[in-house]
Order: sequence, then structure tokens, then C-alpha cells
Amino acid sequence: MDVFGVDIGGSGIKGAPVDLDRGDLSQERHKVLTPQPATPSAVADGVAAVVEHFGWSGPVGITFPGVVTAGITRTAANVDKGWVDQDAAGLLSARLGGSPVTLLNDADAAGVAEMTFGAGKGRKGTVMLLTFGTGIGSALFLDGRLVPNTELGHLELHGHEAEKHASTKAKEDHDLTWPHWARRVQKYLAHLEMLFSPELFIIGGGVSRKAERFLPLIEGVRAEIVPAELQNNAGIVGAAMASAGR
Ligand code: BGC
Repeated sequence: MDVFGVDIGGSGIKGAPVDLDRGDLSQERHKVLTPQPATPSAVADGVAAVVEHFGWSGPVGITFPGVVTAGITRTAANVDKGWVDQDAAGLLSARLGGSPVTLLNDADAAGVAEMTFGAGKGRKGTVMLLTFGTGIGSALFLDGRLVPNTELGHLELHGHEAEKHASTKAKEDHDLTWPHWARRVQKYLAHLEMLFSPELFIIGGGVSRKAERFLPLIEGVRAEIVPAELQNNAGIVGAAMASAGR
């Protein structure tokens, strides 16, 4: 069965029809740049452009880079503040001609996809997926069930918000070497381990493609640490799963 998934990110809005049996895109994804400022109506236009590119009509699952409760976006760390307390599912559905929209946090969507089709498949106990990108997203699972909207990228670490210190944006903005950035990620993981004792960390986001550059440098964390397997498509797949109620 095909369902449509869209991933709203800080730099791009990407989407594709997803084959839910395989957990993979059934056509090559289409991407538009995230408008700046990323206001609700400008982003809704971007989402519509992606969906219309495929001539898709029907239910659409969409990720959002902030807290989402029952279709309402509650925070907006890396997008326009106009999203705070916005009926985003209603707005996006109206922009898509009334198609039903299911909206969820981007890291939660990526996590659900990885737990079903990727690095977390069949894993019991406490599993934590982290996405490193413009911010840091988190998805927490107990025996495969998601605890939504955990927002662990905003934990304070040495007087800084963790995502300001250890996201890939921080790496780029401050021109950090891989070893320097890996030390920051290591401290962050050690802190999360102290608080949650997960059995497994799954490292997602675009940087998961370059896992060999930094994962071998991370020491002193007891939990297993593995790269995400669906890489940058996890959000799209997870969004489509959510729209199909999976
Ligand atoms: C947001 C999270 C999001 C993460 C990754 C953070 O700034 O607060 O909701 O999952 O960025 O996009």
C-alpha cells in the first residue's frame, strides 16, 4: 500500500509516496527549499508543491521540527515563531484541498520508521533515537512504543543548550573538526545515558551517512551506538506510517 509522507526540515521540505510493506519510498523523493522565514503559510505552500509534484490526492503524513500535540504545533525552535500554538494540521489540510493530514514531530517520525524497518527493528527495552541536523531531535521508545515529544535536544549541558553545542549546524557554524565535534556528542550521549540508561542509541539525521567519521571516536558510553539505516528518508517513511495509523 502506498501512503504519502512529507518531512519539513530547517533547510528542505521533502516528500514521496511510501510503500508501507517495504518501508521505503516508492518513487524518488521531491524536495523544495524551506522558505525563509519559515512561516506557516509559506511552509504550507512548500508542502503543497511537493505533494502536487506527484499529483497525489489522499491522506498525507507530515513531520514538523517541534512539539506537536493533536495536530497543534507547540514550539518552533528552528522555524518561524508563528507556528507556536498553531492548528497546523488544519492549516496544511486546507492548503491540500481538504486531504486528511496527520502531523507529528520529525524525530518521532524518524524513530518510528527506524524501529519498524531499520536499526531498531525488533529491539526491546529502552531505545533512544537522536537526529543531528539544524537542531537535535529525540525519540524515546520502551519495548517499541514511542513516548512522543521528548525534546532532549534542549537539555542543558555545561551551561549550553545541547543542540546549540552538538548539532551538525554547530559543527558547521564553528568549523569543528570531526574529533572535536565527536567529543561534544560523546558528552551529550553520556549525559543522556546517566538520565535514561538506554540499551541502544540510534544516530540519525544526514550525518548518519558519515557515521564512520565520528562513531568510532566515541568512548565511555555503555549503550550500543549505531547509525540509522533509513538515513534521510526515515522522516518521510515515519510520516507516511503515522498517516496510515501504524
Ligand atoms: C526541536 C525538536 C526537533 C529537533 C530536530 C529541535 O529544535 O525542538 O522538536 O525534533 O529540533 O528538528
